[in-house]
Amino acid sequence: MYPFRDGSFAVRNGWYVAAFAADLTDMPMQRTIVGLPIALYRKADGTAVAVGGRCPHRNFPLGKSCVRGDEIVCGYHGIAFGPDGQCTDIPSQDFVPRSYRIPTYPLVEHGMWLWIWPGDPDKADPALLPDLQLIGHDEEGMHPGALFSFEVQGRYQLLNDNLLDLTHLAFLHGTSIGTLENARTPEELTQDPGIFRSRRYIKGGPPTPALRDRRGIERLVDQVVGMDFYLPGFHAGIGDHFYAEDDPERPGELIQRNRVFHAVTPATQTSCYYFFGMSSHEPGGVEAVREALHPVLLEDIFATEEIEKMIALAGGSPTELMIKSDTGAVMARRMLQAMMDAEAKESVGA
Ligand code: FES
Ligand SMILES: [Fe+2]
Repeated sequence: MYPFRDGSFAVRNGWYVAAFAADLTDMPMQRTIVGLPIALYRKADGTAVAVGGRCPHRNFPLGKSCVRGDEIVCGYHGIAFGPDGQCTDIPSQDFVPRSYRIPTYPLVEHGMWLWIWPGDPDKADPALLPDLQLIGHDEEGMHPGALFSFEVQGRYQLLNDNLLDLTHLAFLHGTSIGTLENARTPEELTQDPGIFRSRRYIKGGPPTPALRDRRGIERLVDQVVGMDFYLPGFHAGIGDHFYAEDDPERPGELIQRNRVFHAVTPATQTSCYYFFGMSSHEPGGVEAVREALHPVLLEDIFATEEIEKMIALAGGSPTELMIKSDTGAVMARRMLQAMMDAEAKESVGA
């Protein structure tokens, strides 16, 4: 499936964000993750669990049902399942067959997120989750906060591509966070196992419209802009702004230091979830930008959904005339394709 090989949809053996931890209460939540129906809920002791979201009786969504103690109770005919997936009660009969069960999925609360592993549970290693210190979530002096959750009517890779090519900042977000320097400054790309990194070191460029509006800065600034893509679905972005090194009054002084967290989770073949959070060096810094950032995220979603429509018009296989700035996205697509190929090979061999 575009932009991957036919038959390749999404990596299954990987951690994906299923929800912001604070959003999951004792009310269950229905999700579709990598094409799988999933119900998320919290047990009586507050532990979050993920089970199959399709009632095996008549296919009612269990995430649109209710929770009783540690169990999820189907909202249609009241069949109940424990967090281990085993059916515990069928109200209309005395006998509960052993085979009456739903799948369960590894779910971990880590940072501000709930992470699900939709693939082989034996491979679900929490050590593969992004390091909260490294991404600036738990770093000393940084203040993290969750901001937005969206359901996007576009395939997940369009959002990954968007985050892997920040030359779009100057155009899609030209009135807020972008300057032409994002497109003109050469990009440094590096690869580690499971992580793809991009950086731009912008020297003595004009301030972004947001810096002007929010802090009244008119002088030239230096910026470090980049993204660390933790495959398969999490991008930790860097946005550091300093007064320019040759600034007459405050040379090289920090203006603002932000880390942005974009989690992109495949839902169906043409839709995904998008979770956006941040951490700021200023207490209250995340909430302070909530209102200004919301339209910026909507611009990315607009682009994604419009491109999804163009893909449909092209019968699912659009052509692309690549340019130099696509290098990062192409490299990351190859990494994802290699992960999907390895999974396909394993399932054939199994
Ligand atoms: S569909 Fe769930 S109990 Fe009937
Ligand atoms: Fe964007």
